[in-house]
Parts: sequence; structure tokens; C-alpha cells
Amino acid sequence: MRHFLTSADLTRDGALTLFQLTADLKHRWKAGRRGAPLAGRTLALIFEKPSLRTRVTLEVGIIQLGGRAVYLSGAEIGLGTRESAPDVARNLSRWVDGIAARVYAHATVEALARHATVPVINGLSDFEHPCQALADFFTLSERGLDLGAMRLAWIGDGNNVCHSVIQLGARLGASIVVACPPGYEPDPRVVDAIRRHGGRLEITEDASRAAAGADVIYTDVWTSMGQEAERARRQEAFSRYQVNETIVGFAKPAVLVMHCLPAHRGEEITDAVLDGPHSIVLDQAENRLHVQKAVILTLLGGSLDDV
Ligand code: CP
Ligand code: NVA
Repeated sequence: MRHFLTSADLTRDGALTLFQLTADLKHRWKAGRRGAPLAGRTLALIFEKPSLRTRVTLEVGIIQLGGRAVYLSGAEIGLGTRESAPDVARNLSRWVDGIAARVYAHATVEALARHATVPVINGLSDFEHPCQALADFFTLSERGLDLGAMRLAWIGDGNNVCHSVIQLGARLGASIVVACPPGYEPDPRVVDAIRRHGGRLEITEDASRAAAGADVIYTDVWTSMGQEAERARRQEAFSRYQVNETIVGFAKPAVLVMHCLPAHRGEEITDAVLDGPHSIVLDQAENRLHVQKAVILTLLGGSLDDV
């Protein structure tokens, strides 16, 4: 793996290897180990959109590994306006050891990767959020779920996070059901690729049917960053897809409820569920840090022995 742009870049074994490295890094950090395998190395962070979790966990992650981060807002470097993505990638490659980017168009992160001579990590595009999906399935494995035997219900928009979660979930052997209103299904290219690889994926309009017997219910905002103009239309379209206590009641008694955050409380998820006993959203958020440390260490060629 030279770059990490999509969860489709991961094989099942590749993901499981990253989970083991994540567990080791998390354990060592919590045990007080403070080795610096990436001392003297720098990660550039390009953000065209706002972020709490991704920015903090990438920056803290490289710092915990002994390196440094340079944060660049899209506006500040004029990505695609002042300078093209290929030129930004070529220049940054002369100074830094890796690039993480949160972009509007997935094509931008692909262009960065094509022209960079250092690894590029996708920190969310309009098509994928692979670091999120990796943290999510690490969180589920940490909880002791059998990833190959579980049933995961995605309820809501077939968006960027959905693409990454259902691709990685199917790759790990989970049975996936997506419930969404017509017109908001995951991209057919993602659906076809999952099915071509033998993944178990069902798409329905019925949220309660998707939730029935689920081990995991996952939801995300109805209006993603960049779609603000569609907000009213989306709120109407998704009104029957709220993850509330009624929906959770259809799932297995020990169901785990996931959300990548930030949440629009009272829209796609109620306070009672988000803050309730089934919710593991803060574990997901915490594990962004540990899993991305594993990704950074792997891509930048550091050794766990030095941690
Ligand atoms: N889940 C996630 O990526 O959060 P941020 O948008 O705050 O980075
Ligand atoms: N789907 C959301 C995820 C944010 C982490 C968005 O793209 O805004």
C-alpha cells in the first residue's frame, strides 16, 4: 500500500494486519511507551473543509510517533485555484514525508496521489472516508464482534462514509444492509464492486427491515459538507430514516450504534440513542487516533520496535 485513498485499497488480511498494529500502538501508548519511530519526519495536512476529529487525530498521531504536522487550509494554499493539485503535490513532496488531505472532490486526492512522491492519505472526500471505516471496524473487533459473522445496518444517506464502511465491512465478511430513500443509494460503482467481490450487500427503503436482527446500526448526517444547499430537500427525504429508540428496538438486544460524528442531533439520530447505552461513538472517535497512527507508521515506513 503506497497511498490510502479508499477502503477498497485494503484486502481483508491487510486490514487485519493494520488492526493488530493499531492494537499494539494503542497498548504501548497507554502503557507509557513514548518511542519516536518517526522522529524528524513531517506530515502535511491539507484541509479544504472543517474538521475536529480528523485534524486532531492526524496531528496528534504524527506527534505521538515523534514527528510533526504542518496544517494548510485549502484557502491558504489555493488548492486548484492558486496552484493545481499536481503542482501542490510535487512541491510538498520535496519537503515533507507524507500528505493527508480532506477535499471536496475525490479527484483532487487522486491527483495529489498521482503526482506526489510521498504517501497520500484521504482524510475525507465527497466519495470516501477510509480512515473512518478503518477505525470503525477496529472498534468493533475490539468489542469482540466477529466481523465475518455480523450484520451491519447502514440507515440513512449512501454517502462518503457509507461507501468506505460498506466496502470495508463487506471485505471483512460482514453482511451489510443499507436502508435509504430512493435516489440516495450508495454509488452503483461501489455496490457493483462489492457484489463482484462476493460481498453480502442488500439495499432497501425500509429502515426497520434493515435494523431487524442487526448487530450494528450505523448512521451519518443527512446533509454532508458541501451539500448545504440541498438541506431542506434532504430533511424531507430522510425523515423516515432517523435512528431512534424504536429503530434500535428492532435490532439485537446488544446492538452497537455507530456514528462517525459530527451528529446533527434530533435529525439522523436522537439524543437518547446517541448518548444511550448502545452508542460507541466516542470509542470510534478515540480509535481514529490509534488506527491512523498505524496507517502513518506503515506508509512512512516506521517500525513498531522503535515505539
Ligand atoms: N468523523 C470525522 O471525520 O470528523 P471530523 O469531520 O470532525 O474530522
Ligand atoms: N458525511 C459527512 C461526514 C463527516 C465526517 C460529511 O461528509 O460531511
